[in-house]
Amino acid sequence: MTDVKEGASGPGPEARHQTVPDDEMFPVASFDDPHLQPAAKHVRRAEGVAGLFLVIGFLGFAAYGASYWQNWSNVLQGAFLGVGLFAFGFGMSAWGKYLLPQGPFVEERHPNASTEAEVDAMAAAVVGRGAMMFRRRGFLGGILGAGAGVMGVVMAFPLLRSLGPVPKQSFDHTHWKKGSRVVDFNGKLVRADDILTGGSLTVFPEGYVGNAMDQTIIVRPTTSNVVTKAGRETWAPRGNLAFSKVCTHAGCPVGLYQEQTQQLLCPCHQSLFDVGQGRPAVPVFGPAPRPLPQLPLYIDAGGYLRAQGDYHEPVGPGFWERS
Ligand code: FES
Repeated sequence: MTDVKEGASGPGPEARHQTVPDDEMFPVASFDDPHLQPAAKHVRRAEGVAGLFLVIGFLGFAAYGASYWQNWSNVLQGAFLGVGLFAFGFGMSAWGKYLLPQGPFVEERHPNASTEAEVDAMAAAVVGRGAMMFRRRGFLGGILGAGAGVMGVVMAFPLLRSLGPVPKQSFDHTHWKKGSRVVDFNGKLVRADDILTGGSLTVFPEGYVGNAMDQTIIVRPTTSNVVTKAGRETWAPRGNLAFSKVCTHAGCPVGLYQEQTQQLLCPCHQSLFDVGQGRPAVPVFGPAPRPLPQLPLYIDAGGYLRAQGDYHEPVGPGFWERS
């Protein structure tokens, strides 16, 4: 007989100590029990195979020990050890798979769930105690609720304020207008022949030096008029080709002009734009999704460069186009 201790969820204090017959807890095993029968149909044959491999494994280990003792070649030692390990492992696996009881083995146990009455009693205790605590601390509960509400609103401030003003149409236009005079970073007017062949210059409309949306790069691959595509026959007088400097990928300044390949390079993510005769700044490499907008120029009576008007499309990344 064996002493058995029940847990708190058991039947009650008077039943906490009771005895259970040993043969009920641990049923006596019998060779006739179907769960204890080996899986092999021909048990003797399986025994023979497992035993044979175990013997081979034993001999392999013994041979390995002898070869090591005699300092035979490493290859021979490795071969003996390999044979020993393989045969021994195979023999053990065959024993386990074909000769040991296969089950299934099931252990019954008593239910652990609480009774309905216990669940009801617990719920009543928790709800009642919780309500009582809040009633007793009504003032603190009110403050807690108000504080949580204010905190929720205040935490939304950074998000709402960071959205900033609505851009409306501000991305659709720049300060370039019909007749805008072209100036460099120092505000100096730019003449049609100031830029050497193969050179480039960052320019702005007069009065807006440094403005991010207005920044424009002029490249001069030749001193003859350049037509990047049909309809732009007058846009690049004496080879002065002007493109928005705001990359159409993420807005970095496209500041590098490669004279030999006649390409503009954006240093941020290496977008390359083809510029020149018949090359309207279409991206040929990198993530930029569309060409750099071209600014139409003309030369005034004094020989200075001026804009024929604003860009014909929004400058900068593609999403600005959809604003
Ligand atoms: S910003 Fe120019 S390639 Fe990304």
